[in-house]
Amino acid sequence: MIKVAPSMLAADYMHLDSEIDKVVASGADVLHYDVMDGTFVPGITFGQGILKMVAKKPIPMDVHLMIANPIKHVREFAEAGAKYITVHQEAANFELRDTLRAIREAGCLAGVSVKPFTSVDAIADVLNEVDLILIMTVEPGKGGQKLIPFTVDKVRQVREMCKKAGVNPVIEVDGGVNLETAHLVTEAGAQMLVAGSAFFKAQDPAEFVKALKAMPQAE
Ligand code: DX5
Ligand code: ZN
Repeated sequence: MIKVAPSMLAADYMHLDSEIDKVVASGADVLHYDVMDGTFVPGITFGQGILKMVAKKPIPMDVHLMIANPIKHVREFAEAGAKYITVHQEAANFELRDTLRAIREAGCLAGVSVKPFTSVDAIADVLNEVDLILIMTVEPGKGGQKLIPFTVDKVRQVREMCKKAGVNPVIEVDGGVNLETAHLVTEAGAQMLVAGSAFFKAQDPAEFVKALKAMPQAE
C-alpha cells in the first residue's frame, strides 16, 4: 500500500503541537521534515533542536536534508530522532557514498534525492547504499508548487534501474502531490508520497490520506 508523508513545511508553526497531532490522527505513515540551510536552497527552515521535540510524537520522522555538506550534520539529525535521512545527490556530490554510509552507521535508513533536472543515472552507483530514493517532482526550496510533468518519467526510470540492479528501496516523491496528481506518480512506481499544502488544506485529513493510500500502484 502507498505510504503518506505529510510535510511539516506547510503546517501552522504557531500551533505545531496540534498540527502534528493532526498528522498522527490522520493515519499518515511518517512526518516529512524539510531542512533548508539558505545555501543549497534559498530558504531556511528548522534544524535538529526542533526535530528533537517533534520526534517525541508517535510517528516516524522522514528528514529531507536540503543542505550543503550534509555529511557534517547526519549524526546530529540521527540523534535528534530521524528514522529516514535523505540527502541530495547534488549536495553530497563526491562524498555521496560516505554520506549514505554515515546515515546507516548512525542507525537510520538512508535516502538519496535528485532534483528535477538531475538524471537518475547520477545515483546509479549508490543503489546498494540506499533504503529510499526521493524523486523531486518540483524544484526543492518551497511548498505549494505545481508538479513538473516530466519528472513522472524519472519515477519509472528509477524503478527500472532498481529492478535491474536487484534492489528494492522505497521510491518516494515530493512536490505538488495532491488528489489530482498522485495517481500519475503511483502508477509510475512511487510508493511513498510527500504532501505538504494538499494535506494541510484538506477539509478531512484522514479522508485525504485514505484517498492517497488507495491510488493505483504500478505492478
Ligand atoms: C519542497 C519540499 C517539500 C514541500 C512540498 O522543497 O521538499 O517537501 O513541503 O510541498 P507541497 O506538497 O506543497 O508541494
Ligand atoms: Zn521535502
